[in-house]
Amino acid sequence: MRQAGRSLPEYKAVRGTGHILEAISQPERVVEITLQPIRRYGVDAAILYSDIMVPLHAIGFGVDIVPGIGPVIAEPFTGKADLDRIRDLDAEGDTPYVIEAVRHLVEELTIPLIGFAGAPFTLAAYLIEGGPSKNYAKTKSLMYSQPELWHQLADRLADLSLASLRSQILAGASAVQLFDSWAGALSIADYEHFVMPASRKIFEGLKDLEVPRLHFGVVTGELLTSMSEAGADVVGVDWRVSLGDARKRVGDKAIQGNLDPAVCLAPYEVVQQHADRVFAEAATSPNGHIFNLGHGVLPETNPDTLARLVDYVHAHPIGNS
Ligand code: CP3
Repeated sequence: MRQAGRSLPEYKAVRGTGHILEAISQPERVVEITLQPIRRYGVDAAILYSDIMVPLHAIGFGVDIVPGIGPVIAEPFTGKADLDRIRDLDAEGDTPYVIEAVRHLVEELTIPLIGFAGAPFTLAAYLIEGGPSKNYAKTKSLMYSQPELWHQLADRLADLSLASLRSQILAGASAVQLFDSWAGALSIADYEHFVMPASRKIFEGLKDLEVPRLHFGVVTGELLTSMSEAGADVVGVDWRVSLGDARKRVGDKAIQGNLDPAVCLAPYEVVQQHADRVFAEAATSPNGHIFNLGHGVLPETNPDTLARLVDYVHAHPIGNS
């Protein structure tokens, strides 16, 4: 349940009103915030409190994360000269706070810690658009009109995310998730041509470390086959696709999902009915299923609903197996 903390009063208390990138750079606060949803909900894995923009921020690209908006770039990526602004990440030197937080968490936790990074398309979209976007017009315009530059940018971003993920695994993370949140904006052909090579480079570059690799995006129903071919072990599914259809599309991979986070705003009985639907569909998944929301927790969600949902999943025979 990504961003489970967002709805918690204890998160708001520790987070305060300051800059999220500031909070993320303080290992003690990161440890505390990462543990909060574990204490409250008893979920089966922890996800590191950080953000997909952290490596780009750390190398000085000029990234801000504005509450209620998301990542905002002071000087967006417009052309070849901007490639030089994306230097290699020296994870130990540039993001020591991430490594320290992972090390502390691994000592404290009795459940797996999931590390993560942004996938090249989603990161590039923020860099080129300068912030969140509805149609990714600037991103696609660069992709179609300067394909060589696009591939160089995607490759550089792949190196950045790969370096960050490797450092998190070496510090003790048990699994990693690559977020390509906005890849659903692309056709299958464009995904395979413009995105898959860079994402595949990341998954291949992690192979030797032998931890489960998860891949996730929203509105990616049509892309599930291609996203699984990019090389992950587990593919995330949002609520628009049934888990039965998803399973057919991802072949022998495990799947993760897919309760609509907005369902958790409804009375608990309704949440339960939807969870039953997930169980029924997941029963057709011989290669494993991770019960999860199809995207992040909405801030207005009642924490009690999530606590009851976690208990309900744990009480289910498949949830227990
Ligand atoms: O689940 C977790 O809380 C773990 C930490 C985590 C955050 N961001 C913390 C965060 C993770 C895994 C992310 C990933 C992330 N960040 C993604 C990929 C996953 C997805 O949602 O598709 C993306 C696209 C981002 C970029 C980003 N950062 C957005 C769109 C926002 C929301 C802006 C808003 O306020 O609505 C952020 C801010 C952010 N990152 C919050 C958290 C907990 C929001 C709360 C805050 O500012 O304290």
